[in-house]
Amino acid sequence: MWIRAYVFLIGAVCMWQIISKVESTVIGQLFQMFDSNVEYTSIYTCEEVDDITCTEPPYGIGLAGHKVWAPCGEGMVGNMTAVCNEDGKYEQKEDNCVLAPIQEMLDKSKTINDSSLPNFLEELRNVTVNNTRIVSVSPATISSIVTILNNVASKSPLLTLPLNKKSTTYILETAGVLTSSGSKGSWDALNKKDGKENQNNNSTIRSTSSALLNLFESVSDNLVNESFAIETSFIQLNKTMFENHFHHDFNFSVEIDIPEASGGSQYITTIVFASMDNVLPPRNEDNSSSMVIKGKVVLAKTAAKIRNISITSGILNDTLKNPKCVFWNFTLFEGLGGWSDWGCSLLSHNNETISCSCNHTTCFSMLMSPEIIEDENINDITIIGVGISMASLVICLITEALTWKKISTNTTAFLRHVSIINIAVSLLIANIWFIIGANITDDIKKKNPALCAAVTFFIHLFYLAMFFWMLASALLLLYRTVFVFEGGLSKTSMLVIGFVLGYAAPLVIAITTMAVTVPSHKYIRESSGCWLNWEDSKALLAFVAPALVIVAINFLILLVVIYKMLSRRAVSNASQAGEQHVLVVIARSLAVLTPFFGLTWSLGIGTIIAPQHKEIHFAFTLCNSLQGCFIWVFGTLLDKKVRSETIKSLTSADKSTAG
Ligand SMILES: *[C@@H]1O[C@H](CO)[C@@H](O)[C@H](O)[C@H]1NC(C)=O
Ligand SMILES: *[C@@H]1O[C@H](CO)[C@@H](O)[C@H](O)[C@H]1NC(C)=O
Ligand SMILES: *[C@@H]1O[C@H](CO)[C@@H](O)[C@H](O)[C@H]1NC(C)=O
Ligand SMILES: *[C@@H]1O[C@H](CO)[C@@H](O)[C@H](O)[C@H]1NC(C)=O
Ligand SMILES: *[C@@H]1O[C@H](CO)[C@@H](O)[C@H](O)[C@H]1NC(C)=O
Ligand SMILES: *[C@@H]1O[C@H](CO)[C@@H](O)[C@H](O)[C@H]1NC(C)=O
Ligand SMILES: *[C@@H]1O[C@H](CO)[C@@H](O)[C@H](O)[C@H]1NC(C)=O
Ligand SMILES: *[C@@H]1O[C@H](CO)[C@@H](O)[C@H](O)[C@H]1NC(C)=O
Ligand SMILES: *[C@@H]1O[C@H](CO)[C@@H](O)[C@H](O)[C@H]1NC(C)=O
Ligand SMILES: *[C@@H]1O[C@H](CO)[C@@H](O)[C@H](O)[C@H]1NC(C)=O
Repeated sequence: MWIRAYVFLIGAVCMWQIISKVESTVIGQLFQMFDSNVEYTSIYTCEEVDDITCTEPPYGIGLAGHKVWAPCGEGMVGNMTAVCNEDGKYEQKEDNCVLAPIQEMLDKSKTINDSSLPNFLEELRNVTVNNTRIVSVSPATISSIVTILNNVASKSPLLTLPLNKKSTTYILETAGVLTSSGSKGSWDALNKKDGKENQNNNSTIRSTSSALLNLFESVSDNLVNESFAIETSFIQLNKTMFENHFHHDFNFSVEIDIPEASGGSQYITTIVFASMDNVLPPRNEDNSSSMVIKGKVVLAKTAAKIRNISITSGILNDTLKNPKCVFWNFTLFEGLGGWSDWGCSLLSHNNETISCSCNHTTCFSMLMSPEIIEDENINDITIIGVGISMASLVICLITEALTWKKISTNTTAFLRHVSIINIAVSLLIANIWFIIGANITDDIKKKNPALCAAVTFFIHLFYLAMFFWMLASALLLLYRTVFVFEGGLSKTSMLVIGFVLGYAAPLVIAITTMAVTVPSHKYIRESSGCWLNWEDSKALLAFVAPALVIVAINFLILLVVIYKMLSRRAVSNASQAGEQHVLVVIARSLAVLTPFFGLTWSLGIGTIIAPQHKEIHFAFTLCNSLQGCFIWVFGTLLDKKVRSETIKSLTSADKSTAG
């Protein structure tokens, strides 16, 4: 009796649980459908009986899925919010706490006037410097200080007093605190947030880091008309008169040189930032952030006409490679800003200094690639490997030519040699284009992008042709072993099918790829070399996908054919035995070439997914360059018939020349 009641109870509870669960999900979805902004309290189901709560300070206890507010620390105003996650941790943390005196000054900065300005800037400096530690870890405070400074800078043209040396010093000292290395984390958070938020569309500058840099453009426009220099620990400024030629050595191992200027005697303001790399994101024109900013950020402003400005800077970190000279374009990405190399070029680069030249004046710096892709060894292996590959292919073709009549005794043998010849020809032509592409430097590529596109097209076409001829070869094998052993399609129709598959299919793919990506300038890659784009358009898939699909198909065909060959009885007929021999040779060469080509191009994908791994580049380069060698060895050299015929024709040629 007791037992039964117990069982009943469990049954009842579980039923209720199931119903409740279904209801709760349905209700939940309805809530979400009507108003996705409403945070609905989750309806407890059987599994959620032990509530998920987050307890991490300073947010305290919160239920999963809820937004929790927390008060700011002492001396700060605003609030902090976070959302309690399913796993008991707070996420989407937002810190909107601003140092109280800064918040006060933010309000004051809107009503600043001539007489209050110098005192205001001194106070701002005092508060910021005195609270360096708190300021640098508080993104909202940093953002407020940038807003204050910009309010002041945008006001100053309306005021009668320009910024004098004293006021400017306060600005530089305040801003210097914001660029200190302790604030890097805050800037990363700000840059991430600015990148996401799309409001504030009416202002032209949408990111805090861009606004800080822009502040100095305004400051240098509003300085008093006299020569002076300011040195603070993070920022140095020099305003001076110059005519024709300007040269200055800053203390931060930076040299600025303007060889030629016109427009008579003019003022020039130069500002060097020691640590602006903590502030600005390394984002470039292509929205890629794979580079890092190394070297000082330099700003030069003058009314004189300048043809050329060059900057030489000490290198801070010599493990970085591929330097690029860039300037900050404030209008990129709808006002977020980004680095661009338009009009700038690298003059010289050694392990101690880097020298840049630009034909316009704004905020310059250097971006450097942290990836060491340019490797002398890899380049050497590539050239040697491709050389070996091409030599093997030439030998392969000569062998085929010498023995052509003797070895194409039956249709299958004839077709097999047609495929081998076309595989070799395709790879040979692809290799030739590859060498041409390898000799196209970045300069040539910039001046003549059509050449690079043409090279890419031919490499794409002929690598694909090689794969499609391998497919044709595998299909021939399948047809001969599985479907019809003799007779069937005529030699001519099979030849036509082979050529359509081998050249027309790749041509269609190559042309389509070009037609789809060229109009949006996403056919070739931006980075070094001439090859299909990956970052923007994924055009490279138009090569990798067909290649790997063919490798997969060939594997399947091989399995079927091997199974068929093993289960077939031995043939007695002599001509069938000859044919059988050819099929075994095709199967054997495909059995080696298919996995090898699959491996090669899988490594090729590896170099795209993990470009920083040198070993993968190395292995890919090695395999890629040995393809020709493998075709020669496994396509012709290991064929007994070809070997004996080659020896025969060579010895008879010897005899005839001797005789
Ligand atoms: C700023 O601090 C200095 C001392 O470090 C002090 O003499 C000066 O009065 C302060 N100025 C303001 C406006 O608080
Ligand atoms: C920093 O604050 C202390 C006391 O709070 C004050 O004595 C000092 O003058 C301040 N320094 C600056 C540079 O404002
Ligand atoms: C400085 O002098 C130039 C002319 O030499 C003038 O155009 C400019 O407005 C002056 N700037 C200030 C802040 O007085
Ligand atoms: C600013 O730079 C120029 C050029 O190097 C130099 O002649 C001048 O003395 C500097 N100004 C100051 C105040 O140091
Ligand atoms: C240059 O900086 C060093 C410290 O980094 C300092 O000791 C030196 O006085 C500075 N030189 C000048 C001319 O400001
Ligand atoms: C730039 O990249 C970021 C992610 O890295 C992305 O969120 C943003 O939409 C991209 N912007 C543009 C204009 O492509
Ligand atoms: C700029 O000046 C440097 C030397 O200071 C020179 O090598 C370079 O060719 C110049 N560039 C242009 C575009 O005039
Ligand atoms: C140099 O840069 C690399 C890559 O950004 C970094 O891992 C390394 O710590 C840097 N070294 C120095 C001395 O800054
Ligand atoms: C800055 O970027 C904008 C937007 O992409 C572009 O129109 C402008 O030409 C760029 N400025 C320079 C100097 O390259
Ligand atoms: C570059 O560095 C090497 C040592 O790493 C040093 O021997 C050589 O003198 C440096 N070259 C220059 C131009 O500074």
